[in-house]
Amino acid sequence: MGCCQYFEPSVGGADSFTVEMPRITFGRGTLAEAGERARGLGMRRAALFTDPFLAGSAHVAKVIESLKSAGIDAAVFSEVLIEPGDEAVTQATKFLNEGNFDGVVSVGGGSVMDTAKAALVYHRYPASFTAYFAPPIGEGQPIPGPVLPHLACPTTSGTGSETTGLSVIRIEALNVKYVFGSRYMLPDEAVVDPACTDTLPPMVIASTGFDLMSHAIECYTARAYTCWAKMNKPNARPMIQGANPWSDLHAREALRIVGEYLERGVSDAKDTEARDKLMWGATLAGMAFGNCGTHLPHAFSYAVTNLVKSWRAKDYPKGEGPFIPHGVAVILNSPSVFRFTAQAAPERHLEAADCLGADIRDAAPDDAGEVVAGRIIELMKNLGLPNGLGGVGLSAEDAGALAETASAQRRALGNAPRDVNKNDIAGIFSKAVSYW
Ligand SMILES: [Fe+2]
Repeated sequence: MGCCQYFEPSVGGADSFTVEMPRITFGRGTLAEAGERARGLGMRRAALFTDPFLAGSAHVAKVIESLKSAGIDAAVFSEVLIEPGDEAVTQATKFLNEGNFDGVVSVGGGSVMDTAKAALVYHRYPASFTAYFAPPIGEGQPIPGPVLPHLACPTTSGTGSETTGLSVIRIEALNVKYVFGSRYMLPDEAVVDPACTDTLPPMVIASTGFDLMSHAIECYTARAYTCWAKMNKPNARPMIQGANPWSDLHAREALRIVGEYLERGVSDAKDTEARDKLMWGATLAGMAFGNCGTHLPHAFSYAVTNLVKSWRAKDYPKGEGPFIPHGVAVILNSPSVFRFTAQAAPERHLEAADCLGADIRDAAPDDAGEVVAGRIIELMKNLGLPNGLGGVGLSAEDAGALAETASAQRRALGNAPRDVNKNDIAGIFSKAVSYW
């Protein structure tokens, strides 16, 4: 099954797809352009969103300086939390409501950009917090229209959030993360400066690199857009619309970048070629999943984050309690997931493995799951990742609870190439406990 056959028309299925994109500026030193870019978006008084760890950084200082030079008055909101929840977004919304701003500049990783996107929505269209989340969590209301301009400046090479209209927020009452999205949440513009990653420690580059890798494999192996139902209203087409030629293009290149540069970028902070490439790979993978959607590894990661009780990743800011970085939570499931999904789209799994640098010359379609899982596991081992869910303190006995939580992520589950039920999910989790 090649690319064209993968998008074979199906009865009642979609026959078109939509690409949503911000303007992107990429390159070392481009953070200094933030002021002119923001001014071009009509900003004169901007809210600068960042997190407490970045607030005093050279990156934020550079953006503030640039905004000032462009005649933009900026007020900093640095209370963004890692893994933001609805309470944190409510605080950010309050900041926007009280500041008389005409735009937002976000400087940080996925948590910062996702908080900015969500706060922009609740600032302009106040509603109960779950109004815009899909059922069964929320009421599934569409976001009514445009929000204030948003210039996004990512500082890590993983999230790709600068190119998507998606935001991942934890609903505190349920203590689980959910995705909501809209074309109106897409940043208007992104300034992607890979110099921001120069000072990131190895485990941060590894974790974010695995995040970008999984974005790309999930997009490449997602259910074809032609298998989703045709939309009668064009604006009702969700961003999680399935694999399509646009997402393929970016996913393949992102995987080639990971295969060639991830180990180099992690092992040597001075390898700017590798770090630049990884930043570009993250942006590409964002372009893919922002117009395709991820599937099982991401849907499952939220359950893992929720259940880890004591493990704390090294190289991240010190703190109390458990902390599993998003990319780690995702990749611990991925090999087991792809062993399961390969059966439904073996050629796509093999092509993804090939892009990642696996030798697929003698591989038959039945080997696809093992080949792609093997390459991921090889990278996990080489980069010091935990050995499956057991490495972060979970066991096969947790599989039922994990499956229960993961089952609520309906759209993402539906984006997998193979149908899954709760038993399948528990089985995938139990086979993700240990890989070597
Ligand atoms: Fe992700």
